[in-house]
Order: sequence, then C-alpha cells, then structure tokens
Amino acid sequence: MSTKRYARLTGWGKYVPAKALTNFDLEKMVDTSDEWIVTRTGIRERRLAAEDETTATMSVAAARQALAQANVEPESLDLIIVATSSPDYLLPPVSSMIQAMLGAHRAGAFTLVAGCTGFVYGLVTAQQFIASGAYRRILVIGAELISRAVNWRDRSTCVLFGDGAGAVVLEASEQLTGLLAFELGSDGTEADALFMPAGGVKQPPSHETVAQNLHTIRMDGRRIFKFATRVMADAVRRVVQQSGLAWDDIELVIPHQANARIIELVQRMLGLPDEKVMINLDRYGNTSAASIPLALCEAVEQGRLKTGDHAVLVSFGAGLTWAAAVLHWQPEEPIAIPVANWPIRERVALPVARFKTTLWSARVMLSQRMTPLLLPLYARTLRRQRPSAPSDGTRR
Ligand code: ACO
Repeated sequence: MSTKRYARLTGWGKYVPAKALTNFDLEKMVDTSDEWIVTRTGIRERRLAAEDETTATMSVAAARQALAQANVEPESLDLIIVATSSPDYLLPPVSSMIQAMLGAHRAGAFTLVAGCTGFVYGLVTAQQFIASGAYRRILVIGAELISRAVNWRDRSTCVLFGDGAGAVVLEASEQLTGLLAFELGSDGTEADALFMPAGGVKQPPSHETVAQNLHTIRMDGRRIFKFATRVMADAVRRVVQQSGLAWDDIELVIPHQANARIIELVQRMLGLPDEKVMINLDRYGNTSAASIPLALCEAVEQGRLKTGDHAVLVSFGAGLTWAAAVLHWQPEEPIAIPVANWPIRERVALPVARFKTTLWSARVMLSQRMTPLLLPLYARTLRRQRPSAPSDGTRR
C-alpha cells in the first residue's frame, strides 16, 4: 500500500518596497480624501516599488527569506510556481527569471495567472504535485507590481492598490498537514468587471492604446463588491465542512486584502470575532496575488498563527475567480498522538463540535442568501458612519 503524501508548509517570507504612499500623499495627486479612502476601503497607505525594482526582484527577496526559514537550498527545489498578473515581461515568463536569479537549477518553473486568487491556486497546484508523488519541494510565490498598471489619474482605482511579494516553501510529509481542503472557482461571465483592455493579442499595444490609457486597470468596484460578498462566506463554509474540522477548530481566517468593508461583511456572515480575522490592508492596500502570502507571513510574525493552528485562506479576484483552502499550520514534524490515546473528554468533544459546525454552516448559508437583500441597507449605514480614529495598523 502506498503512503499518502501531504505538503507541509515549512518556510515563509515576504517583501514590501520601502516607499510608502499615504492617503494624504494621494490627496495631492487626485481629487480624493483620507476620509473617503478609509471609510470606503480601510486603506491608509500602500507600498510602491522603486524604479529599479520589478516583480522578479521582489519575488526573489521574499523567496530567499522563505528558503532560509525552511532551511532549503534553492538547488534542491523541484518546482517554482509564481502567481502574478504583473510579470516583468510577457515573454520570458517571470518564473524562469526568478528560477535563474535564485540559482534553482533543478527546478521547473511556471507563472500562474488567476488575478488576486493566483496564490491560493498556486498553493493547491503545488499540493497536488506533492500528493501525487511527483515532487518533494516546491516554492510558491505571489507577487505583484501593480502600481505600474494603475492609472494614477483615476481616483476610483489608484487609491486601492500596492506592491509586494510573499513566498512559501512546501515539502512532502507523511503526516497529515498543509492544505486539508480546498475549493477553486471561476465565473468568466463577470470578466469585464476587472480588466486591462490592451496589451494582449486582442488589442496589441499601439499609439492609440497608449493615448487612450488602455494599458491600465479598469474596474467596476460595485460589481466586484457584490461578487466577493456572494462567494466568500459560502466558500469558507464549504471548505471547513470538507476538511472535517469543527468550526471552533479554525483559529484564523486570512481573507484577500482588498477592502475592509468586504471583509467585515464576510466576517459577520461567518459569525467571526475580530481576533480570528487577519487584516493588514490598512498598511499595504490591495497587493493582488501577494495579499494572502503577505498576510500569512505577518500572522505568523505577530503570533496570530501558531504551530498546530488551522487557518482558512479565502480570496477573490480578476476572472472573476475565487478560492478557499483550509491550512494546517505545522512547519515542523510534531510528535503524533494516536486517536486511541486521546483523553476521553477530547473524544466526546469532537462529535459535539461537529454538530455545532453543522448548525453554524446552516446559519452562514442563510446569511449568505440574505446578503444581496441587505447590501443596500448596509451601504447606507456605512455612508452615515464617520471614519474610525487612526489605528496602529493591524486589527487584533
Ligand atoms: N475619492 C473620492 N471619491 C471617489 C473616489 C476617491 N478615491 N473614488 C470614487 N469616488 C466617488 C465616485 O466618483 C462616486 O461619486 P458620484 O457619486 O459623484 O458619482 C462616489 O465616490 C461613489 O463611488 P462608488 O464607486 O459607488 O463607491 P463605492 O462605495 O462602491 O466604493 C470601492 C468604491 C471602494 C472601489 C468599492 O466598490 C470596492 O471596494 N469594490 C471592490 C473593489 C475590489 O475589491 N477590487 C479589487 C478586487 S480584484 C483584485 O483584488 C485585483
């Protein structure tokens, strides 16, 4: 009988550029205000890459940290997956540039494009390669230099985005850990809610496309808002049920860091207390495919994700796409305790917790169905609210 293989997450690293652009800086560039941005998005500042930085250089910085953390030499990597929508070039793939810069001579490499959802798609892909027995060590990167794809005169988009990179190392393990459940989703009928009109084969670059600013992001914010609140809570509910864990066993939810209002709504639907939701968008804005790995790294740094914990990663983005996954966080091999040796109280507690999860799941399903009806009411309440006092950054 062949042994089952799991993908243990053994290393993590992040990189953000040094230059911060605050809402007050933006007030001098476009017709906006700190109050508008904070109230509507929760963002206070974002990082912008320096002229000599690219998606490849940021990725390499994050990857080196992750490799050092895992104590893994680049030469021993089997595969590198880079999730990004802002590669250095269309050709060659940025993943091969990163592979060369790291000196990962044995590794295959490819770039994965699934908008902001790309990192979770990348994690799931890596896990499959390990579970199948094909590979033992994989580096997954989420990186975005989105500030160069933003129209800095369009106030409806330029206030939202920021640059950064995050990376993780996955290694084969025979113990149950890593991704315990996942869901990948796509709804291409909503593709025009977030797109860049030119630069691909349909509208190749020309004087006209440049003159008309067609190489920058176009977004229908309201549609994306509705989409995100429609898919996120249900996706979380489904992956938690699929994992077989009790809802109480989830210590942290790490959502895509696009907008604090979206996260707040999803948090309400799930009935989650603040301490179980990771937020760092106030300091970085929406870093697209880098958002989840950046938040994951900071959750570990801040002690909010501890050894033995379970986290749910949930994302949405261009496509439109979404993804959710349950992650068991155990960077090092633990000493296993066979179920038969568990204290009797623990064994009784498990079915009780599962029953509570079923009740929770029904409640989430109901509130997810109700949300489209309540959204206009919620928007009106928010408009009346004043922005909250400046915080020290991360919500606890
Ligand atoms: N400053 C001041 N006013 C602004 C700004 C700004 N930066 N941007 C827009 N406005 C104005 C609009 O012009 C509009 O004015 P009008 O009423 O006179 O026409 C008014 O504010 C309201 O605009 P809306 O677009 O309706 O504002 P809304 O409340 O929907 O908030 C927002 C906009 C924040 C973009 C919201 O829709 C949102 O967050 N959507 C989700 C976006 C998202 O998550 N995108 C990324 C997902 S994919 C990825 O991560 C790559």
